[in-house]
Amino acid sequence: MGVRITVVSPETFGLAACRELLLLAGRFEAPLLGLATGNTPKPLYEALAERVRLGEVSLARFQPPFAIDEYVVSDADHPCANRAFFAHYWSAIPATCPAQQFDPTAVDLPTEATNVGSAVEEAGGLDVVILGIGVNGHLAFNEPGTERAQRAMLTTLTAQTRASASACFGAATPTHGLTLGLAEILAARRVLLLANGAGKAEIVVRALQGPVGSDCPASFLQEHPDCSVVLDAAAAARLSP
Ligand code: GLP
Repeated sequence: MGVRITVVSPETFGLAACRELLLLAGRFEAPLLGLATGNTPKPLYEALAERVRLGEVSLARFQPPFAIDEYVVSDADHPCANRAFFAHYWSAIPATCPAQQFDPTAVDLPTEATNVGSAVEEAGGLDVVILGIGVNGHLAFNEPGTERAQRAMLTTLTAQTRASASACFGAATPTHGLTLGLAEILAARRVLLLANGAGKAEIVVRALQGPVGSDCPASFLQEHPDCSVVLDAAAAARLSP
């Protein structure tokens, strides 16, 4: 099956992504999702919340999902940390199980990462992982240079990732992240990659039509057997037909 790309208008991005997620999850009895944060998936979570609220869909059969990454912050409830994101965007969906998350305040962070990775594997692996993409091609916090066999880990954020994060964190931008590895992410049975806005146009081409390699972790998705990509027109603008 490989990579399928759907291009939609910015106005319909959230609904299209939501529709695709439900399609991808539809074939599983008790879907286990991996959830991305960031600006990109917000319209998806909002559309999903709305559809559940209207009674059009139910997530009752879904397992408690896993957050795919977290910033290392001393206050787990920091408003810019992913925990706060899920408290807002995931918990707003009626009758959903709370997301299972990394504890950024754990004393032993590498072990915390390993434990979450093991929990994903013990649960049978992710059925569907929702991904955004960093401007440098990262997936979750798998920065350029990460090998495809990398398991969940404590990682050092690149200057580019920190620059993006500083929009929220300001001077106190974290230097490290906890993340599922490319191993757990690429092992997901189905992938939903989302990107919107002109700022992602270049990396979308690099990831989907450039050479596959660890200098652009998202390029490994080209080899995934079942990867669906939803883009808005601006993010898709530089793709070759
Ligand atoms: C962060 C997250 C990623 C996310 C990416 C893109 O670094 N760790 O999981 O996909 O940034 O974020 P945005 O959607 O805000 O562009």
